[in-house]
Amino acid sequence: MSEKMTVLLTGGTGFLGEYLLAELLDRGHTVWAHYRSESRKLDTIRFLSGMGLPRSAGSLKWFKGGLLEADDQWEQWKSNYDGIDDVDTLIHSAASTRLHMDETGEPLRTNIGSTRTLKKLVEKKPLRVHLISTAYVCGLVQGQVVYEVNHPRGDFVNVYEESKWEAEQIWSGHATLLRPSIIVGHSETGRCTSFSGWYILFQAAHLLSRLMNDNPDVSRSNLNIDIPANPDGVSNVIPVDYVAKASIRLIENPDNHNRIFHLTHPNPPTHQWTLDEICRRFGLGGLRFAGAGAPFTQPRNQIERMVWRQMQTILLHFANNPIFDRTQIDQVLPELRPPAVSSEYVDRIIDYAIGYDWGQSIV
Ligand SMILES: NC(=O)c1ccc[n+]([C@@H]2O[C@H](COP(=O)([O-])OP(=O)(O)OC[C@H]3O[C@@H](n4cnc5c(N)ncnc54)[C@H](OP(=O)(O)O)[C@@H]3O)[C@@H](O)[C@H]2O)c1
Repeated sequence: MSEKMTVLLTGGTGFLGEYLLAELLDRGHTVWAHYRSESRKLDTIRFLSGMGLPRSAGSLKWFKGGLLEADDQWEQWKSNYDGIDDVDTLIHSAASTRLHMDETGEPLRTNIGSTRTLKKLVEKKPLRVHLISTAYVCGLVQGQVVYEVNHPRGDFVNVYEESKWEAEQIWSGHATLLRPSIIVGHSETGRCTSFSGWYILFQAAHLLSRLMNDNPDVSRSNLNIDIPANPDGVSNVIPVDYVAKASIRLIENPDNHNRIFHLTHPNPPTHQWTLDEICRRFGLGGLRFAGAGAPFTQPRNQIERMVWRQMQTILLHFANNPIFDRTQIDQVLPELRPPAVSSEYVDRIIDYAIGYDWGQSIV
C-alpha cells in the first residue's frame, strides 16, 4: 500500500479534475481542492456524491483564491484555511483549454502564469509536483514516433499546445509530466463535461444528419464529399477514467516522480474507422478521404457549405499524426490498459453528448 498523500489539486472542478479528485479520495488520500466558482464546486460535490464519495468529510477540503497570485497568497491561505500547510503534493490540472488566443491573453495567461506562480510557491513551501500536460507538446508531427522525453520547441498547431510546452519547460526536472492525448468520455458511462477535440466530428455529423432531414433533395447515402485528409491518420483519444487512474497510480510511487509519461492510447482509431463509425451512427454515406492536401472544391449547396465550415476546424486536428511511444508507462503500469475504443464505446459517448446537447445543458 502506498503512503497517503495530502494533495493540493488545481482544476478539480474541471472535466479531468473531477475524476482525479474522485480517484484520490477513493484511494484514501486527502485533498485540498482549489475552486473558482460556487456553482462548479456544487456540481463537483454532486458528482462525487453520485459515486459515493467522499467517505469522510475530513478527506476533502476546498479553498478559493487567485491561482495566478498563488505565491503571494500562500500566507493568507494558511491563515484562512486551517491545515492547508499539511499539503505535501501538488497536482496542477487547472488550465485554459482555449486553443487560440483571446483578448484577455488566454490560454497563455493561465497556463504559463499559474505555472510560474506555483513554481515560486514551491520554492517557499516544498511540494512533490505533478503537472497535467498534453501529449501534443510535441507540436506538428506526421507519422513519426514521439518518445516520453522533453521535446525541443516544435511547430505548434495552436497557442494552447505552445503554452503547455512552455509550462513543461518551467517545471522541467522538478515535476512529473503526465501527458494525456485527447481526453474523451468515461469508458463505462460515457460521461463528459468538455465536448471538444474528437467530439467536434460527431457533433458536426449530428448537425449534418439533422440538416439532411430538412433537405429531401440531397441523398443521405450519397453525399459525394471528399475530405482532404489521410484515412490512415489517427486520433489518439483516451477515456477520462483511464487518465485519472493512471495519473494517481503513477504519482503514488516516488520512483516515478519527475519522470515523463504518455497517457495515450496504444491502439488509437484511424480517421477511416472514425468516419465509418460516423456514417454508421448517423446513417450517412458518400464521405471519403481524398488524401492530405487535396484541394477543396466549391460547395454546391447548403449541406456542403456546412461541411466545409466544420472541416476548417477539424483539418488541423486531422493533420497532426504522431505515434506516441508508451515504453515508460507500460513498464511502470503494465496491468492498467486503456479501454478499447469500440463501436459500442462510440455509441455510448455520442448518446451521452446528445443527451446533454453537446455541453449546452448542465452536466
Ligand atoms: N481535455 C483534453 O482533451 C485534454 C487533453 C490533454 C491534456 N489536457 C489537460 O488536462 C487538464 C484538465 O483539462 P480539462 O479537459 O479537464 O479542462 P476543463 O474541463 O476546462 O478544466 C479546466 C480546469 O481549470 C480551471 N481553471 C481554468 N483557468 C483557471 C484559472 N485562471 N485559475 C484557476 N483555475 C482555472 C477550471 O476552473 P473552473 O471549473 O472554475 O472553470 C477547471 O477546473 C488541463 O491541464 C489540460 O491542459 C486536457
